[in-house]
This record gives sequence, C-alpha cells and structure tokens, in this order.
Amino acid sequence: MMLFHRGQKDVIPEKRFGEVLYEGDIIMDGMCAAKNLIRNHALTENEYVTLLESASDQEVKNLLKEEAVRLRKQYYGDKVYTRGLIEFTNYCKNNCYYCGIRAGNRNAVRYRLTKEEIMDCCKEGYRLGFHTFVLQGGEDPYYTDEIMVDLIRSIKAEFPDCALTLSIGEKSYDSYRLFREAGADRYLLRHETANETHYRSLHPAAMSLAVRKQCLYDLKTLGYQVGAGFMVGSPGQTLEHMAEDLVFLQELQPQMVGIGPFIPHHDTVFAEEKAGSVDLTLYLLSVIRIMLPKVLLPATTALGTMDPQGREKGLKAGANVVMPNLSPVKNRKQYELYDNKICTGEEAAQCRGCLAGRVSRAGYRLVTDRGDAV
Ligand code: 5AD
Ligand code: FES
Repeated sequence: MMLFHRGQKDVIPEKRFGEVLYEGDIIMDGMCAAKNLIRNHALTENEYVTLLESASDQEVKNLLKEEAVRLRKQYYGDKVYTRGLIEFTNYCKNNCYYCGIRAGNRNAVRYRLTKEEIMDCCKEGYRLGFHTFVLQGGEDPYYTDEIMVDLIRSIKAEFPDCALTLSIGEKSYDSYRLFREAGADRYLLRHETANETHYRSLHPAAMSLAVRKQCLYDLKTLGYQVGAGFMVGSPGQTLEHMAEDLVFLQELQPQMVGIGPFIPHHDTVFAEEKAGSVDLTLYLLSVIRIMLPKVLLPATTALGTMDPQGREKGLKAGANVVMPNLSPVKNRKQYELYDNKICTGEEAAQCRGCLAGRVSRAGYRLVTDRGDAV
C-alpha cells in the first residue's frame, strides 16, 4: 500500500488511484481525492479537506467541473428549473449574527404580506409559467400554524399543479406535520454549518446545531423534499468546517442543496468581515453535484450578487435551478439579508425574463415544470 502525505502531488500512478488511501494523518492528494469522489460519490472528511485544499488546482478544478456538467446533463439534460420566490415576512425572532433581518437589527424596516398579497404573487407567478412557489420568511410568530395551514391549503387549492416549498425556519415536528398534511411539498432549511463550534460563533446561544439537524431529519421523515446548505466563506469558516458540511450532506442525502457566498450586511455583527469566494462556491457546486448527482442545486442570488455572471457560472459548474423573485417590488429592498442584493428593483416578469435570457446564454433552457427531484 502506497501512502502519500497531504499536498504531495504528481506522484500517484494513474492506475493506482482509489487504492491509494489515507492512514491517520497521511492522505491522498487532491487529484486522487477528486477521482475517488467521481468513482464513489462519497469521501471521508479528511479526503474532503484534501479536495478543498486543491480548489485552486486548475487540473482538479476542470476535472470536477466536467464531471459535474456531465452528471447534470445525464439526469436533467439542458433543463433549468425555476422557482418563484415569495419573501413574505422579514420579521424574525432569531438573531443570527450574519443576517440583515435578525431581530436585533433596529434599522430593518419590517413588513408582512397579507394572504391576499401572497395569493396575488402566486397568480402573477402562475401567469408567468411558474410551477413552484417558495414561501420564504424570517421566523415570524405572527404566522401561526393555523395561518400557515390556511395559506398552504389556499395556494394548493388554487394552483393544484404547482409544488409549494416552505422556508420558514425551525418548527416542531407537529407543525411540520400540519404543513405537510395541508399540502406543502418541499422545505428549505440550510444547516448553515455542520461544525458545533462554528455554529456557536454564527448564532446566539438560544440556537443550536442539534435542533437544526433534528428539524432536517424530521422534515425527511415527514416526506418533504428537503433542502439543506451553508454559506461559503462565513466568518471563521475553515476548510475543515466545509468538509464537515459535505459529510453532513452526504449523510442527510437531501433532495436540494442551497449554497452561496457569505456577504456582509452593514447592520450586523459581521459588517466588517470579508465576503466569501465566488470561485470556491463554484468549486463546491461541482463537488456537491458529483456527491449527489440528482440534487436540485440553485445558482443563488448571493452568487449573482458577488459576480454579475455568478449565476451563469453556477449553472456551468453543475447548478440546475434558479429562483427569480416574485415578491412585491415595494418590499424587495426590505428583505435584505446582505448588502447590495440584486433583483430588488425589478417586477416579477422582468426578473423572470432576465433569468430566462441568462439561462439560455449560458447554454441551458429554462423550463416551467414543477421540477421535482428525479
Ligand atoms: N450572506 C449570504 N447569505 C446569507 N444568508 C443569510 N444571511 C446571509 C448573508 N449575510 C443565507 C442563509 C440563510 C438563507 C436564507 O440566506 O444561509 O439560510
Ligand atoms: Fe432578477 Fe435578473 S434575475 S433582475
């Protein structure tokens, strides 16, 4: 058995990749890890660290990107699914240190959409060809289970051919069950970081990684299509933390994964922190596509905010979903999770048209299917 030290390059004979494994601290090099990921769709935490250390190695990068594009094509052809995002409340009881709508931000101008406004967003979205609506909001106790159930039932009754995704944070198993019974199909809840200490440094003591993970497993048990995910380059994040995120995703096997670069917001604890890297986000999109070949993977607004071509680059790295904004224009700037968020001035139709153009210029086709996980 040949053993290699971390970082050692260009010495592994091609035919031996996969046989050459790590022992304790001694592990394979980046190219070898990439090939193992392609072969097995899974790596150990140490191997993910090695892979992430090679994020600027052009050869490794190209290999992963090509494989990600190949897999995405195998399962989804040139289709890009679209979700209409309705940001229906920016009230939040939590105080996540990175987020612009956290409870402690006295400068945030708060809003809640009425049921009628939400239904109008769906109507407009349906007219534009959307078959998935995403109701996203802060953790806002105003929207009781009863109100949410009524809203879910109404949307599913009026648009029975549409999927409904919720993204409203941590709830009890029973609440999730009620929403599911009312007709909700999918749930997005990013885990944010799978490392306990890092989780502590991004959130106040009232929140816990254990609860967050439990929520994700509860959602899976209830039959939701589940989305987890994390920010790339959040303050204090190391490659080891990201490796833990990847291992967690590997265990959870979510149908959807949302990742985007961290972007500082001026009214948060992290106002002066550096934003996350677009290139590393793209690299991770490819890695995630290979790990979970059928995953629904959005090219996120945060990626588009950090780079005018970010979403196009995301699609070319393995993403297959875009989420244009359907929220009323009057409220868009108020749903400010981070600074300089794009798409805050456009009407829904403009946003959809803009994205359709971007998708086709990137060589893909924006489709109107519900876009369930295959
Ligand atoms: N930068 C980038 N992404 C952020 N989110 C929240 N705040 C920021 C920020 N400052 C992400 C979180 C959350 C999702 C809705 O938006 O990952 O889960
Ligand atoms: Fe919203 Fe381009 S996607 S304006």
